[in-house]
Amino acid sequence: MPEPHYPVSPMSEQPPTIGIGLIGYGTVGRGVAHLIKKHTDMYAQRVGKQAQIRSVLVRTPGKATEYAQTSDDIDPAIVTNNADTFFAADVDIVIEVAGGTTTAGDYIRRALSAGKHVVSANKALLAKDGKALCALARENNVALAYEASCAGGIPIIAALTQGLMANHVDGLYGILNGTCNYILTQMIKQGWTYEHALKTAQDLGYAEADPALDVSGMDAGQKLAILAGIAFCIDSNETHLNCTGIDTISLDDVKAGQELGYDIKLLGIAEQGEDGRVALGVEPCFVHDEAILAQVHGAFNAVSVVGDAVGHVLLYGQGAGQMPTASAVVADLLDTLSGGYPAAFKDAGWTPDRGRSFELLPPEDVQSRYYLRVDALDAPGTLGKLTTALGKLGIGISAVSQHESADGTHDGHLPVVLLTDKARRGDIDTAIAEFAQSGLVQGTPRVIRVVDLP
Ligand code: NDP
Ligand code: HSE
Repeated sequence: MPEPHYPVSPMSEQPPTIGIGLIGYGTVGRGVAHLIKKHTDMYAQRVGKQAQIRSVLVRTPGKATEYAQTSDDIDPAIVTNNADTFFAADVDIVIEVAGGTTTAGDYIRRALSAGKHVVSANKALLAKDGKALCALARENNVALAYEASCAGGIPIIAALTQGLMANHVDGLYGILNGTCNYILTQMIKQGWTYEHALKTAQDLGYAEADPALDVSGMDAGQKLAILAGIAFCIDSNETHLNCTGIDTISLDDVKAGQELGYDIKLLGIAEQGEDGRVALGVEPCFVHDEAILAQVHGAFNAVSVVGDAVGHVLLYGQGAGQMPTASAVVADLLDTLSGGYPAAFKDAGWTPDRGRSFELLPPEDVQSRYYLRVDALDAPGTLGKLTTALGKLGIGISAVSQHESADGTHDGHLPVVLLTDKARRGDIDTAIAEFAQSGLVQGTPRVIRVVDLP
């Protein structure tokens, strides 16, 4: 396969024009087209080449053509729903912002096989097939860039592969889903219902076409698998994930956490132990209300990276939405146009096809502080018995909270909240099983991880 070639021109000459094919003209695709049109000259100055969208592939051209007529960002005549027409256009770089793992995957494979560089925002596809797609890109001497797949407008992949490259990364902690963070913010700070918050997130263009991916924690998990792969040079993918979504959070836990000084956030956590084993998971966690992550509201994301040399670095920005995501897509496009990304990709060892295989740390071996809320028997000595049971497993307590029944009546049980010291999750589960056997608690206790960042 011949190496794609861009003529180099002195700045005084008209820069060469490079043809771009755009698959998807929805929330992100329209943002991408708008940026390319708006900043054509600025981009040409920055990278010495002019980007021109020459073909746009969608499913239903009517909507896209109508929008193109009003926006003036692309020529409506270049919109098609015919893949052969799209691939016959004179383009060197294909941008995939359609989503989904089937047809979008076929299109990316077709583009790479035809020797075209590809830029994609598709975390679902990359977390599933990233290994094969990167290998295919390499085989064809082209590059696959995917900054926009993780944390919207935050340049986290560039940070990991450039600015933080000197570090051994010990851990990565992120608010990685804008929709979930928006829903939690609106419900907790504004008192919105879950349904209203989700619908608004969809209207604002934050949610996935299937929002179950967002609220189940899977979308954040896909991003975590991609980022852990880069940070630890491992071949992580969606099969390694353990995800719990915001659909499991109860407002009773939110309030109980707040009383103790903690806010709830959906966190993606990737940690690499000294033995090389890797913990990968997404779950609602409590963070101290004075911690930086607790100040991340709405559709904003934040990613904390802990490196052995740099210490703690936090990247913050809009994690979803049209223009923040377009910013990341177009950054990849420009880096590809300049030749910088393809050169780096060629030798990169952080892509999933070159990542080392690794051993997952089983969830029960994860060490953390935990919040336990139990419906405890209202009888003398109960609290002592609960803390003794925990103590026998080596689990210390850092805070306890219990309220009187509001109206003096209750069914013989009262909610008790315990914050533990650092403990193994498996030992917490053993303690909970013992609570149930002893008859000291009723129902299923709630367990939520408490995360203290360095
Ligand atoms: P939208 O649903 O708004 O737009 C999708 C676009 O792709 C539409 O134009 C749609 O065409 C087209 N499309 C979908 N399937 C096909 C197909 N099989 N063949 C051709 N065209 C197709 O999605 P978004 O713009 O929100 O998201 C696009 C991608 O970007 C997804 O991978 C998403 O995960 C990712 N992303 C989105 C972010 C966001 O904030 N929205 C942030 C980061 C990443 P039609 O309308 O005709 O069906
Ligand atoms: N649905 C995703 C989110 C889009 O809400 O974070 C950005 O990846």
